[in-house]
Formats: sequence, C-alpha cells, structure tokens
Amino acid sequence: MRIILADNYEEMSRKAADIVRSQIVLKPDCVLGLATGDTPMGMYQELIKMYENKEVDFSEVTIFNLDEYYSLSRENPQSYYYYMHHNFFKHINVKKENTYIPNGTATEIDEECRNYEEQIKNKGGIDMQVLGIGANGHIGFNEPDVNFEAETHLVKLDEMTIEANSRFFSSKDKVPTSAISMGIKTIMQSRMLVLLANGESKADAIYKTIKGKICPEVPASIIQLHPNATMVIEKNAAKLL
Ligand code: GLP
Repeated sequence: MRIILADNYEEMSRKAADIVRSQIVLKPDCVLGLATGDTPMGMYQELIKMYENKEVDFSEVTIFNLDEYYSLSRENPQSYYYYMHHNFFKHINVKKENTYIPNGTATEIDEECRNYEEQIKNKGGIDMQVLGIGANGHIGFNEPDVNFEAETHLVKLDEMTIEANSRFFSSKDKVPTSAISMGIKTIMQSRMLVLLANGESKADAIYKTIKGKICPEVPASIIQLHPNATMVIEKNAAKLL
C-alpha cells in the first residue's frame, strides 16, 4: 500500500486528480470507478479544470459509480446520479452511454445488481477505483460486519452512516435506509484502488484501515490485501498514523 500525505484538502484533491489523469493518459479508454460524498468533490473540480485546459480527455473513458441510495430517483438532488451529473459528468466530455450508476428505483433489485456486475465485466473490469471512507470504515456502502465476498448488492445502512449523511437531507428520517452498492469483492477486483480521506473525523477509520487487523468490522481494512492500493490522506485524517 502506498501512502501519499497532503497538507490540506486542496493538495489531497490535486494529487488525486493527478493520479486519475495519469491513468487516462496511460490508457485513454480506461474504466474508472468513482465515488460520491464531500471528499472527492475537490478532485472532480481539479479534473474539470484539467479538461478545460485540454490536459485530459474523457471521450473514451467509461465510468462506474460505487453506489446509489435505494428508492431515490435520478431527479432527486440527493441521489448519487444527480450528484455525478451535476458535479462532474456535465462539465466534461464523457459519453453519457459510458457512465453507469446503479438504478436506485429498480423494481428487480437482484437483477439490477447482477446486471451491474455483468456490465463491469463486459467492459473488461475496473482499471482504477476511487474511494472515500466513512467514519465507521465503510467503503462504498459496505458497512461494518461486511461480507468480504459480496458483489453488487442491496445493503442496509448503518445508523452512523444515516446520521452522517443526514446533513445532505432536510431531516434524518428522509435519509434512505438502504442502498445498492458494489460489494467488497467488486472493489477488490479493480486493478488499482485510490482511497481519499480528509479531516479529523476520518482519523480513527484511517488508522484502523492501515494499521489495524483485517476484519469485517472495518470494511476498508481489506485494502491491506490489495496489490495496488494508494491512499491519499490529508494530514488531519492521518494524525493517528
Ligand atoms: C458515503 C458514500 C461513500 C463515501 C462516504 C464518505 O456514505 N457512500 O462512498 O466515501 O460516505 O463520505 P464523505 O466523503 O462525504 O465523508
């Protein structure tokens, strides 16, 4: 595991964007896995700037997102579909047909999950998966006590996650209680992982992920077994290391 420290959020975002850009330069038709949340927002802004300066071209890139809230429609501003289109896709030249996000309103959930896995495989697998991390150590929406063998599936959200994500909703009872998420197996099959962490609230999760025992209580700890993982960590998130 490679650890890259950053002095602040801006530096973390720039370094992460540089890593993603290098992947696209090396393989213009690469498959990226992307994440939502506050953490990668600065990285998306940096990538948009690079695109505007003609330093990166997304025309052949395929993107798969990690997860989506169950029951939120694409039009809902809290959906991850909305987040990705609003904050990233509409500002770059990725082709709409090359962007994939689980459908949170699918009626046949198992089929939706199976199809998502199939689509990833049909594209040749994910070259680089960008991850954030929950304060409880979750990646995607793979909550503590995770099944490391799961592929894309419906997950029940942890109380801590509902609490943390309630900041995006008008009240806590509006936060969906489940989501469709790539599983740990899906994530671990990516050829490279890039995990970003910012702020003191992530320090404990980062410590356990890097220095702790590999265990289902800390889903991100499995990354210790990945052959090509890079963590880009802002200094407050790294303070217990
Ligand atoms: C969310 C997402 C994760 C994200 C995490 C941290 O629940 N499902 O993919 O990494 O929480 O979010 P943030 O970056 O806003 O702290």
